[in-house]
Amino acid sequence: MIAEKKFEHYQESADFILDKIKIKPEIAIILGTGLETLLDEIEDKIEIEYKDVPNFLISTVKSNGGKFIFGRLSGKYIICMTKRFHYYEGYEYSELATPVYVLKLLRIKTLILTNASGAINYNFHPGDICLITDHINFAGVSPTRGNNINEFGERFYPIDNLYDENLRKLTQNLALEMGIELKEGVYFFTVGPFFESPSEIRAIRLLGGDLVGMSTITETLTAAHCDIKVLAISVATNYSSDRIKNMDGSEVEEVAKDVSPKLKSLIVKVVEEL
Ligand code: HPA
Repeated sequence: MIAEKKFEHYQESADFILDKIKIKPEIAIILGTGLETLLDEIEDKIEIEYKDVPNFLISTVKSNGGKFIFGRLSGKYIICMTKRFHYYEGYEYSELATPVYVLKLLRIKTLILTNASGAINYNFHPGDICLITDHINFAGVSPTRGNNINEFGERFYPIDNLYDENLRKLTQNLALEMGIELKEGVYFFTVGPFFESPSEIRAIRLLGGDLVGMSTITETLTAAHCDIKVLAISVATNYSSDRIKNMDGSEVEEVAKDVSPKLKSLIVKVVEEL
């Protein structure tokens, strides 16, 4: 791992990938826990393992290190990342900018993120699919801290449309047509890997958080820096710790898997319309 990466490092990663794919997708998808069924829908796949990409992050998940999958979804060329990287795994926040900067150099314009989260809002329940409308980042996470890489974006940048409004409208309309209930909420980021204390949950609820999770925002913040539009969809997999005892995450994957076919059909439709 390289502590302070330079533009050339990202370019080297992207060049390695571009050399292997002759197509240039404009849409990327990063899959969250238990939401891998989307992969079945991708045709003409080309797979590149993260570990083979120079200067890329090394996954800490031993059984499945993660890969880029290129191919066609709804007739469009896309790139899918099968695993994401989390702060709790030991990466620095600046390292967590890597996947999105590399996607930028692959010329991605739209990034679709999925994740699993805890339901804080009393109207949200396990199994609900929620559009993320905004986030709260009180952990002070900053993937673009350090030397600004001007090739990607300006030093200071706005984050008032992090979760692109037009993409959200499109997705909400498609969900309506498909009879899929799509809730909307604010995602509160926590560093993990522990879940939240009940008092933290009550505080987050007061602050306006509807969902809580340990991922996604470093990707979204990096995307905003380099002008990639983001659509983020969360599956609420469990009630937060003020409503259940002994939250250990065991249900997260199972609930996400149950909801996965519905979420998959929505993403397929969104990609078709992009
Ligand atoms: N808290 C944090 N992250 C999560 C949760 C949660 O309750 N559920 C799934 N990811």
